[in-house]
Amino acid sequence: MNHVIAVMSKKGGVGKTTSALHLAAHAGMAGHRTLLIDGDAQQFAIGWIRSEVPFDLMDVEAGIPVMDDYDVVIIDAQGGLPEEDVRALGELATTVLLPCVPEWQSVRGMAATVEMLDEAGIDPEKVRVLLTMDLRQGKATAEARAELEGAGLRVLATAIRNASAVRHASVAGTLVQRVPGVAGKMVFEDYRQVSRDLGLIG
Ligand SMILES: Nc1ncnc2c1ncn2[C@@H]1O[C@H](COP(=O)(O)OP(=O)(O)OP(=O)(O)O)[C@@H](O)[C@H]1O
Ligand SMILES: [Mg+2]
Repeated sequence: MNHVIAVMSKKGGVGKTTSALHLAAHAGMAGHRTLLIDGDAQQFAIGWIRSEVPFDLMDVEAGIPVMDDYDVVIIDAQGGLPEEDVRALGELATTVLLPCVPEWQSVRGMAATVEMLDEAGIDPEKVRVLLTMDLRQGKATAEARAELEGAGLRVLATAIRNASAVRHASVAGTLVQRVPGVAGKMVFEDYRQVSRDLGLIG
């Protein structure tokens, strides 16, 4: 088993780093040798984690050469990458994961992301959309899903719920399930289901 998941989006602030960290946590907890590559020039993933985690965390320069030593590699890609980097990532990746917030700006922004992937020659079969920051009320998520699917995208069945515990986790430098209270654990369960759907865990 060898998974390389590139988490990408053209739009910023849609949950790339949060998703990369928590998918890596599930893969690592399941016993897979897991590497998270922080592709952000400002190294937000590396900056977030200031506690013990069940995966290795490296920047691009250190991580890319040692990818083959791992069962699961998750790449937290920076927004606004040049086409050659998108192409290279798309070739490395077994799955390209596109987080998307269920709101108009983000859903519309996906068209630009898809165009970027298309221009870089990335196989659409590899691409999955992950809806994040889902309020678990109202129709926005269902509408976003319908619009994205209508545009031919594959949207994962589980949406990650919105919870302030995610912010607490980043401030505290920890993973969301370690934030006191139930909300963070529920976000972590959402990521568990997504990890299953992506075939990272059983
Ligand atoms: N499920 C969630 N519920 C509530 N807040 C969230 C959730 N996921 C992410 N956030 C918050 O939204 C903000 C953006 O998340 P994150 O940093 O993961 O996005 P990003 O796509 O990596 O952003 P950037 O483009 O800046 O790298 C952060 O403040 C984070 O704490
Ligand atoms: Mg980020």
